[in-house]
Amino acid sequence: MNIDVKPGPNDTMMIEPVEVGRIGIVGAGQMGNGIAHVCALAGLPVTIVDIKAEALTKAMATMARNMDRQVNRSVISSDDRDAALARVTTAIAYDAFADADLVIEAATEKEDVKRGIYKTMMPYLKPSCLVASNTSSISITRLGAATDRPEKFIGMHFMNPVPVMKLVEVIRGIATDEPTFQSVQALARRLGKITAVSEDFPAFIVNRLLVPMINEAVYALYEGVGSVLAIDTSMRLGANHPMGPLELADFIGLDTCLSIMQVLYDGLSDSKYRPCPLLVKYVEAGWLGRKTGRGFYDYSQTPPRPTR
Ligand code: CAA
Repeated sequence: MNIDVKPGPNDTMMIEPVEVGRIGIVGAGQMGNGIAHVCALAGLPVTIVDIKAEALTKAMATMARNMDRQVNRSVISSDDRDAALARVTTAIAYDAFADADLVIEAATEKEDVKRGIYKTMMPYLKPSCLVASNTSSISITRLGAATDRPEKFIGMHFMNPVPVMKLVEVIRGIATDEPTFQSVQALARRLGKITAVSEDFPAFIVNRLLVPMINEAVYALYEGVGSVLAIDTSMRLGANHPMGPLELADFIGLDTCLSIMQVLYDGLSDSKYRPCPLLVKYVEAGWLGRKTGRGFYDYSQTPPRPTR
């Protein structure tokens, strides 16, 4: 018997990777403006959408300041900076994404916030538009299922500070198709980044290793093993880390560190991921690190003063 086999919709020969030209970014926070920064410097037009107009103004100022640092260190020219900044537009509504080929969502690390954004945003995107989340820990499969295009949905996890850090973790959900995967790999290369592919497990690779180390440093502080300074000095000089774990926690944001520990604890059901009660207390106090001026260090003084 002769069976006539026709290529199915998942045969990669039928679907070419989309070349990403125009980028949309959701969220003007530290990750959103860093991603916009590297995309614009790579020659891509970028639109950042945030519901808060003042966050957009702040993001543009931060981007200009960070590009100035690069000009001062001769990493880029002042012409590169001016051309890149001219490629970035901002908006407070999702209709600004009508022409985007890829939208990268870099909103707060809260699943309900991300789901709410997708629900409102999807109707404004063209059908071929890819969607990536910069989530640092939440399931890509679950987030993709909250969109109208799980096959075009993927994790693209940048590291902070984005202009400096070389890595992008790429995470496929169960439904993500090969052309979407190839498109974001090509984009990461264009941005000058190196990718590492992680399977869709809680917190992926970087944060599965990094954030439990930070949580352990908070336990060491909580149990009185050492002071803030002793713990950070130990890891900076004893393990050659560029920042100590508590300084790094303040840099990432203690709320983000806590939510990543919660995702690990809930997702892997293992007590070794129990968030340290002191970390919880700091977050409850609103001491979230650099962004609020106080965390394990007090940033109202220069140099920042350890708080314990
Ligand atoms: N934009 C542009 N350039 C920047 C920058 C920024 N935001 N921040 C720093 N730089 C540049 C500086 O201009 C400088 O450039 P050159 O190397 O060309 O001279 C370089 O970066 C080093 O900066 P500094 O001299 O000011 O300070 P430093 O040597 O102390 O380095 C650091 C700063 C790069 C942040 C370094 O301390 C470091 O690597 N820290 C660890 C960062 C880290 O671990 N990030 C990952 C966090 S985890 C994450 O992001 C995942 C998650 O989901 C939580």
